[in-house]
Amino acid sequence: MREPNESFAWKERFQLDPDVAFLNHGSFGACPKPVFAEYQRIQRELELQPVRFLGREFRDRMAAARTALAEYVGADADDLVYVPNTTTGLNMAAQSIALRPGDEVLATDHEYGALDRMWRFLCQKAGAHYVRAPISVPILSAEHVVEEVWSHITDRTRVLFISHITSPTALILPIQPLIERARDAGITTVVDGAHAPGQISLNLDELGADIYSGNCHKWMLAPKGSGFLHVRRGIQCMIDPLVVSWGWESDEPSGSQFVDYHEWQGTRDISAFLAVPTAIDFMQNNDWTSVRSRCHTLLSEFVPQWLEATGEDALASLSPKWLAQMATIAIPTSRWEAFKAALYDGYGVEAPTIWWNDRTLLRISVNAYNDRADLERLTAALHELIPQFREEASA
Ligand SMILES: Cc1ncc(COP(=O)(O)O)c(C=O)c1O
Repeated sequence: MREPNESFAWKERFQLDPDVAFLNHGSFGACPKPVFAEYQRIQRELELQPVRFLGREFRDRMAAARTALAEYVGADADDLVYVPNTTTGLNMAAQSIALRPGDEVLATDHEYGALDRMWRFLCQKAGAHYVRAPISVPILSAEHVVEEVWSHITDRTRVLFISHITSPTALILPIQPLIERARDAGITTVVDGAHAPGQISLNLDELGADIYSGNCHKWMLAPKGSGFLHVRRGIQCMIDPLVVSWGWESDEPSGSQFVDYHEWQGTRDISAFLAVPTAIDFMQNNDWTSVRSRCHTLLSEFVPQWLEATGEDALASLSPKWLAQMATIAIPTSRWEAFKAALYDGYGVEAPTIWWNDRTLLRISVNAYNDRADLERLTAALHELIPQFREEASA
């Protein structure tokens, strides 16, 4: 991917344990040193004069951070608010949707487990139904995926919930045509964008989802505890504050009720939000489009080797249409937890295994700090572990 000295330079700019082949950017991200330094500088500034920082300056500081993020994700700054993470953003939105008995929320079988639970919880409370459309792998085509999802729409479907990039299978889903169809059918679209910002280009206004929540602390390289909730202007009035505070019936309304309702949630450390513009600058100053594409190329070069070691089929083509900086491969064992432990304990490879649709999956993330040696370590581990685990699985 890069000259050896260049990859060394990249590793030096992150804070990760040099003994670990860290192939799990996807779970919690990793923050580069200059972005983390700015985050800590902001925290010290807050403590220097908390009243000035969280009182007099709060609004302007948050507005500036929102403006930078909005520009990056192709949105208006008054249409998004910072949240600590995607789980919170999606809860804020979903809990405001007044589901009725018999309503259906349609999702796919590639959703993140915590959000499956959120919808099951909300549907149980309302007497509604949570329906998961299977998307079969290997993926055939975008049209096929759209049809697989859409075939589960009924006249009771109120919400279409879908991941932009899926957690277990690391696939970029063709959400745009589904959003358009749902809008025509009067169905509310809720997109889980946890993995998208920073990994693929985003233009939320063009995408047109009703509700979109994403993380800055994963692929945008921001400090942990930074994400956003974006809501299409026409439906912002239906989103209740999850935490009711000064912004409801505000004495000093800003131009946006949406921002008033959701931005101030009581005293909290907003430094991670305020460091997001620095993370954006970091990506832009380092030509992140090229970094991403180099990571994708490296991943695409190694996936066939890993498939050869496992003897399994790819979940999708290696085109950037389906994969960005993460790829998932199937592992021929049911012992998914033991396999993950063996990878880490025996080889120092950090990568998650997931038990999904009765099979073990292994998700590999590649970011700027990864070099060929990290991926070669995984290749060697797979060649040694797969025969052991395959034998044990069939024993
Ligand atoms: C698809 C997807 N959605 C949501 C989340 C939750 O992210 P967070 O814990 O930051 O809320 C994850 C976490 O990995 C995810 O993969």
